[in-house]
Amino acid sequence: MALLHPLIAQFQNAGQAQVFAFFDQLPPDVQASLLAEAGEIDLGEVERLNRTLVAAGGAAAGVNLGGLAPAPFEPLVAHGGDAAAWQEAKHAGEVALRDGRVAAFTVAGGQGTRLGYDGPKGTFPVTPVTKKTLFQVFAEKPLAAGKRYGRPLHWFIMTSHQNHVATEAFFKEHNFFGIDAGRVHFFRQGRMPAVDFNGKILLETRGSLALSPDGHGGSLRALERSGALDLMQREGIDTLSYFQVDNPLVRAIDPAFIGWHLLRGSEMTSKMVPKAYPEEKVGVFCAQAGKIVVVEYSDLPLETQRETDAKGQLRYVAGSIAIHLLDREFIRRMALGGDGATLSFHRADKKIPTIDAAGAAVKPAKANGVKFEMFVFDALPFAQNPLVIETNRADDFSPVKNADGLDSPQTSRDDQRRQFARWLNAHGAALATDATGLPAINLEVAPSFGYDEDSFADSWSRLIPRPALTDGLILS
Ligand code: UTP
Repeated sequence: MALLHPLIAQFQNAGQAQVFAFFDQLPPDVQASLLAEAGEIDLGEVERLNRTLVAAGGAAAGVNLGGLAPAPFEPLVAHGGDAAAWQEAKHAGEVALRDGRVAAFTVAGGQGTRLGYDGPKGTFPVTPVTKKTLFQVFAEKPLAAGKRYGRPLHWFIMTSHQNHVATEAFFKEHNFFGIDAGRVHFFRQGRMPAVDFNGKILLETRGSLALSPDGHGGSLRALERSGALDLMQREGIDTLSYFQVDNPLVRAIDPAFIGWHLLRGSEMTSKMVPKAYPEEKVGVFCAQAGKIVVVEYSDLPLETQRETDAKGQLRYVAGSIAIHLLDREFIRRMALGGDGATLSFHRADKKIPTIDAAGAAVKPAKANGVKFEMFVFDALPFAQNPLVIETNRADDFSPVKNADGLDSPQTSRDDQRRQFARWLNAHGAALATDATGLPAINLEVAPSFGYDEDSFADSWSRLIPRPALTDGLILS
């Protein structure tokens, strides 16, 4: 009898023999790739997650809400913030940018199932006139900021196993959108096996596991493992500007935000917007046991979401929009798990394509298993001097999540047009808009012309003669 492969024996001993149920029938190359996938799996971790998240069911995986209070945050000047402190922060951020201390970081490893677009989400066309892709918009922002501050920026992009090759190819095909290729760094995030409700690792086919990305929180481990942190250290970069691949409005490089983070010696600083309405589906910054935490809307009871203070204002008002600054050595500490600093996994019940006992494909109509994901905001309670800073939603957040309706390509294009119109009208133009600020014409401002209001104002003031404000206007 052939000797049992040691990895197969380990899976058998861990009660996961089903992973190799069809092994003997597979061609040698598929056997090899199944073994390679299985070799990636930390069986001890799966066992622990099964015990804590799967066996215990949804309830035990629930969040401790004891002693919860709203998180403190730095309000915008318009909402009572200290104008001099904001000015000082902006100045400090600009100095850090001139000193080359900041890099951009996009998490682009998600599956983008809600949008339903075939291809890496960053390759989705998103701007209102020229239909630039998300990746191009993000590329042009740090490129323009680098020129403004006389110091080109590095840009890190986290991909998944699924989209890594296509993402790199897209950048090559577009000549890295004008960025020096040596400053764009791609790395894959980790992946996790999905399990059924009995904790058994699922096969996607007879010869492959049902693996999925380990969540945006996986970025901390992946930054360390890929050598990105070492590269940052060699380059003198200590601050990473984190944003999602789905939000073209993001101020990817925001001097005041950076300045607050550095002046306060914060290891992790996050942007907040006041929730648009009490039940808005965003995580909420809260304080708990002297720490800052983000509680997901689904974990916050409705009556808490709706609570108001003596002035009738929402108490739990600080919505998270997934924009953070992270200190390099803090990321390293989280990645290596020093001092117990480590992200926990969350459970998500999903429809996971798999096979049945006979090896036939199954496309489940309802959730048939559990995926495990880490969330980057779970790092906040481990950070020294964490900070939450208010921003204007209209200047920072309009994600493309769904194919239509809320947070869709249409709403995002409209929000971009509103922003461009606002900038123009704040600097002397007279562009007609409706009550929501949406201009009658379609228009687009390239990040090279203005990636925020300051840079826009500079370019606009030098633009002579001024173009006619007609449909299809492009400022670039
Ligand atoms: P979402 O929560 O919107 O998830 O990710 P998603 O997978 O992209 O989309 P759906 O839910 O399937 O429709 C928010 C951000 O986090 C990144 C995404 O690429 C996006 O920028 N992300 C998410 C990762 O980089 N890795 C992950 O494992 C999950």
